[in-house]
Amino acid sequence: MGVTTIIEPFRIKSVEPLALTTRADREQHLREAGYNLFNLDSDCVTIDLLTDSGTSAMSAKQWSAVMSGDESYAGSASYARFERAVREIFGFREVIPTHQGRAAERILFGVLCHPGCVVPNNTHFDTTRANVEASGGQAVDCLIAEGRDPARYHPFKGNMDLVQLDGLIEKHEAEQIPFVLLTITNNSGGGQPVSMGNIREVSRRCREHGIPLILDACRFAENTWFIREREQGYAGRDLLEIAREMFSYADGCTMSAKKDGLANIGGFISLNDAHVARDARNALILTEGFPTYGGLAGRDLDAIAVGLREALDADYLRYRITSTRYLGERISREGVPIVQPPGGHAIYIDARGFVEHLRPEDLPGQSLACELYLEGGIRSCEVGTVMFGTGLPGDTDFEPAANDLVRLAIPRRVYTQSHIDYVIEVILSVYEKRYQLRPYRFASVPSVLRHFTARFDPL
Ligand code: F0G
Repeated sequence: MGVTTIIEPFRIKSVEPLALTTRADREQHLREAGYNLFNLDSDCVTIDLLTDSGTSAMSAKQWSAVMSGDESYAGSASYARFERAVREIFGFREVIPTHQGRAAERILFGVLCHPGCVVPNNTHFDTTRANVEASGGQAVDCLIAEGRDPARYHPFKGNMDLVQLDGLIEKHEAEQIPFVLLTITNNSGGGQPVSMGNIREVSRRCREHGIPLILDACRFAENTWFIREREQGYAGRDLLEIAREMFSYADGCTMSAKKDGLANIGGFISLNDAHVARDARNALILTEGFPTYGGLAGRDLDAIAVGLREALDADYLRYRITSTRYLGERISREGVPIVQPPGGHAIYIDARGFVEHLRPEDLPGQSLACELYLEGGIRSCEVGTVMFGTGLPGDTDFEPAANDLVRLAIPRRVYTQSHIDYVIEVILSVYEKRYQLRPYRFASVPSVLRHFTARFDPL
């Protein structure tokens, strides 16, 4: 018998207690939260899979870098270290820190977009779409058909549909498309990677028409691992080299360092165009701060500089992608329908397939997410009719979302295999009694971004 277990490539020197609760506690907490998991206090949650954003455990090296943070208002040494790390990995000349990803989006899109413009992407993340629309643009998703079908296998389900992109470029003048975005990995489509071949083809079209290509790079390191594992010509290649090749096809990026920066806060814009960078810095000063800190403390910049390099470590990425896949494979082997294949940062359960007796108007994703909490204190996130549907069930303007999914996002370096085994047991135990899952109704609904604050009633 050989040794095949892929272990966490770290040991733990600082621990944080987990909240262990009883079912009766959880029933009370959930009732008080209006059956909305966003309303739960984190100390009522045992395993928190709400998001992989800003929830990473920092390394000893990052914490020691924090202590060297230079908090000077201007010309901070922390900025110089941050700029060096970003340039080394991303390869763009201009480096502009922001407090998180959406601030980078707001500032860059504010500079580049104009009313009536069109911005293609494989799939816009919600803040990305909102920031394109806030700057007067129209956000258009151009994902390959395989990427929209949860059960279908494709090695690069995040790829952009080139025919659809060609159509958009042909329909609109190139001036109406200020830039093309490509989200690596595609979060909203299940954390699915984009192939190097696809990035290259999108880039070729953009360059032919003089349209800049911007990568939404939040999970760029996880994307490099999938390219190395699945794309011809990249097996065994250096991950930094793969990252640099991906970015070499682009003109810039927006980044949330709360994901593959392995930091708890932060983000940046990086690009080559000095004029756009100048305008972005002017906008930055209005709301984020001076260009050498951009709304962050110097110590945050140092933590990110170290984190970006650690995110490309092969042992780390092997463990990261394998442990996400482990969760996905274990539950799907027992019949739980998930978005296939498992993505980089999360497993998405197909709630319509899981609770077949509930219709979309019964909010199956909400029902499943609540049951995972009641059964084992797991906090997940509904990505379905609550988040993306329009109108209320029963009303004439009601439209369910295309899919009803439940996302289990895995924080980086935080949970061990026994935590994940526990999550698997909880999911399988809920799966066994899935026919008891109840329909949910909206009890109160805010006018915007309803999933954050709506309240629900189980029937
Ligand atoms: N782009 C993508 C693809 C994202 O997943 C996120 C955040 C952002 C941009 C915005 O970055 O949060 O730093 O402002 N995604 C988090 C999530 C919130 O839970 O998936 P941010």
